[in-house]
Amino acid sequence: TGNVTLDGGFTNTASCTSAITYIDGDEGILRYRGYPIEQLAKQSTFLETSYLLIYGTLPTTSELEDFEDRIRDHTMLHEDLKGFFGGFPRDAHPMPVLSSAVSALSTFYQDSLDPFDPDQVEISTIRLLAKLPTIAAYAYKKSIGQPFLYPDNRLSLVENFLRMTFGVPATDYEVDPDIVKAVDLLLILHADHEQNCSTSTVRLVGSSHANLFASVSAGINALFGPLHGGANQAVLEMLERIQSAEYSTDEFMKKVKDKEDGVRLMGFGHRVYKNYDPRAAIIKDTAHSILEKTGGGDELLEIAMRLEEIALADDYFVERKLYPNVDFYTGLIYKSMGFPTRMFTVLFALGRLPGWIAQWREMIEDPTTKIGRPRQVYTGEGERDYVALTDR
Ligand code: CMC
Repeated sequence: TGNVTLDGGFTNTASCTSAITYIDGDEGILRYRGYPIEQLAKQSTFLETSYLLIYGTLPTTSELEDFEDRIRDHTMLHEDLKGFFGGFPRDAHPMPVLSSAVSALSTFYQDSLDPFDPDQVEISTIRLLAKLPTIAAYAYKKSIGQPFLYPDNRLSLVENFLRMTFGVPATDYEVDPDIVKAVDLLLILHADHEQNCSTSTVRLVGSSHANLFASVSAGINALFGPLHGGANQAVLEMLERIQSAEYSTDEFMKKVKDKEDGVRLMGFGHRVYKNYDPRAAIIKDTAHSILEKTGGGDELLEIAMRLEEIALADDYFVERKLYPNVDFYTGLIYKSMGFPTRMFTVLFALGRLPGWIAQWREMIEDPTTKIGRPRQVYTGEGERDYVALTDR
């Protein structure tokens, strides 16, 4: 196999250069295009941050207005695309519904198939940002048997998403500005995280010159897994099992440390952060204020904080540098807002979308990009002769 180095899981292999997101895992630092995540969380909006990630600079007022207007023009789904939702079983998980619908965008927009046509890339970018919240809301509506609502383009992206998710026809839906702000903040915090599993997937698929929709659809599927985006759902299920007294906090932590049945403290640990995940620190604060407002999930929050307290003082976690990650507190917030557990990873996908797009565009615009094609270390049989079926 020649000069090949084995690095399963790519723990020490950079697959690309990138100017988008900087992480210092030892110090717990995260920056998008140089701007600290704490400043963006406090002062930016999700669409402004999306612009920053995709185009590299903070927009001027007119640039931002233009960007928001263009997105607003594309929030509706083609009526035929709506038909897709009827084809899935009622109890389908919304993540595969989401990735299927995004994959299908390539069939509705055939002006998306040339990744080297900047106009096609630009309109596909806008369509994705505009339509993913609509697709996500419809996946949810389908699962509870309620009619789809058309987007109301007088509303902002997040307001629209909340209305299409929780509203019903012919009834006013009061969008709570505090909830809108909290969702917007959570989306900012999820917007990019350099070469994580789903983003690497988007780049790898795109490196074959597959279009943006196909690549992002693959990224959504990668995000579905419980070790990645699916962790926010897994965290809540874990907290609920402890709440229902299936086992106590201490019993649970013992299972984790004994690695019984591969049980992990979900929402803890990270490949890159060997310190407190800066996103988790911001989210923990938000969890308190939102739960105060919505008045739900206090007991689960207490369980989560107890688990964190035990873990941060326990040798097992200290030695391995395991800290809460972005997923540890998000589920509690989503639940208190009324989202069912199955929608948590969908919310992660809505947030990560601008990052996937920015990384795909950076990859396709880089003339040095080659098709992603890892090598392997072969461990199978040496050459042997075929044995006829009758002789085996
Ligand atoms: N609970 C208990 N032990 C853990 C945990 C955990 N959550 N995470 C890692 N460890 C242990 C692991 O067993 C191993 O121990 P040992 O050295 O004795 O074999 C050591 O810590 C190193 O773990 P690893 O699996 O080699 O680390 P990794 O970099 O391959 O995995 C991870 C990173 C995030 C997949 C892992 O920490 C994990 O499974 N965490 C729980 C799932 C989770 O919260 N995922 C969300 C990640 S952040 C957002 C996202 O990407 O979606």
